[in-house]
Amino acid sequence: MTRTLLLTGPQLTVEAMAHAAAHGVRVIPTTPYLPADELTAIIAREQPDAIIVRQGNLTREMINASRALKIIAKHGVGYDTIDIAAAAERNIPVTIALGANAQSVAEHALALMFSVARQTALLDARLRDGHWDKATSVGIELSGKTLGLVGLGAIGRILMALVTPLRMTVKVYDPYLAHLPDLPNVERAEDFDALLADCDVISLHCPLNEQNRNLFGAAQFAQMRPGSLLINTARGELIDTGALVHALSTGQIAGAGLDTFNPEPPPADSALWGLPTLVATPHVGANTHEARDRVGMLALQQILDVWNGDPLEPRAVVNRHLFAD
Ligand SMILES: NC(=O)c1ccc[n+]([C@@H]2O[C@H](COP(=O)([O-])OP(=O)(O)OC[C@H]3O[C@@H](n4cnc5c(N)ncnc54)[C@H](O)[C@@H]3O)[C@@H](O)[C@H]2O)c1
Repeated sequence: MTRTLLLTGPQLTVEAMAHAAAHGVRVIPTTPYLPADELTAIIAREQPDAIIVRQGNLTREMINASRALKIIAKHGVGYDTIDIAAAAERNIPVTIALGANAQSVAEHALALMFSVARQTALLDARLRDGHWDKATSVGIELSGKTLGLVGLGAIGRILMALVTPLRMTVKVYDPYLAHLPDLPNVERAEDFDALLADCDVISLHCPLNEQNRNLFGAAQFAQMRPGSLLINTARGELIDTGALVHALSTGQIAGAGLDTFNPEPPPADSALWGLPTLVATPHVGANTHEARDRVGMLALQQILDVWNGDPLEPRAVVNRHLFAD
């Protein structure tokens, strides 16, 4: 029996497409970020047995447009764009590619930390524009500084390990973490306010939910150390953009590195683009050949497992707590 897999975005890697073909799967790629009514119409027409969510939202209407749908697999780990409750109502598991892109995102967060600390993006743009800023540019070292991690999951843990040669003290704010790794340079922040006050660099690695929207607003920026840096490779909605613009433009904090935004992409006339201490990348933290290979294969395998009636890794099923039985 031929099963249909719809992708909200382009084809998977060559290896994953070959794996799908070997299992007789009909794969339907779509244009990224299609208008909702167009994507809903495609789903209604194709009646996919599975959907891999690559770009854009997957709404209740889209989920309910396919009567055949058995699983929704996120091509990544951030699932805030999927109506997981609507899926649970029909006992459809929503899976994430647990840990498969963590190395790439952690490396990107570290790259942003270095880039903000040494203003490499600004200096590159200035140099191309004919300026030789050797006499005026002064950066900061990361060595020996205190790094605050908001969330110590797959990505936070790798970043924690990556900064070891820099002899950074790592403070962790993760209310859901049962056991802190037993390492001499790692400690728990007493609470969120203490994290804000005690760190030179804060990097965000928690999921977005209804409780932590605008986790960083004007009050939080006011509590951060003068001269500190904020890195966000998690989700744009964790930061109040207006408050960040104010904190950067007044020098309340020394710099920010953002891979995620609210909204995404930010408008062309966003106040962010006028900030010299901001380093920005277009949500590419997981965009490496290695991570794409792992994520695509894992998402596909989760789908094949569900179709075959094989069990899924429970931690990868993000709506399991919403199932009726
Ligand atoms: N930039 C990118 O391309 C990209 C790629 C992958 C993931 N992400 C984002 O990074 C996030 C983290 O990914 P991960 O793989 O490390 O996830 P993970 O599930 O392994 O870890 C998340 C950690 O955050 C903690 N947490 C949950 N709510 C929290 C809160 N309110 N405050 C502090 N900690 C909290 C959890 O206990 C967990 O330890 C994802 O949810 C996603 O939004 C971004």
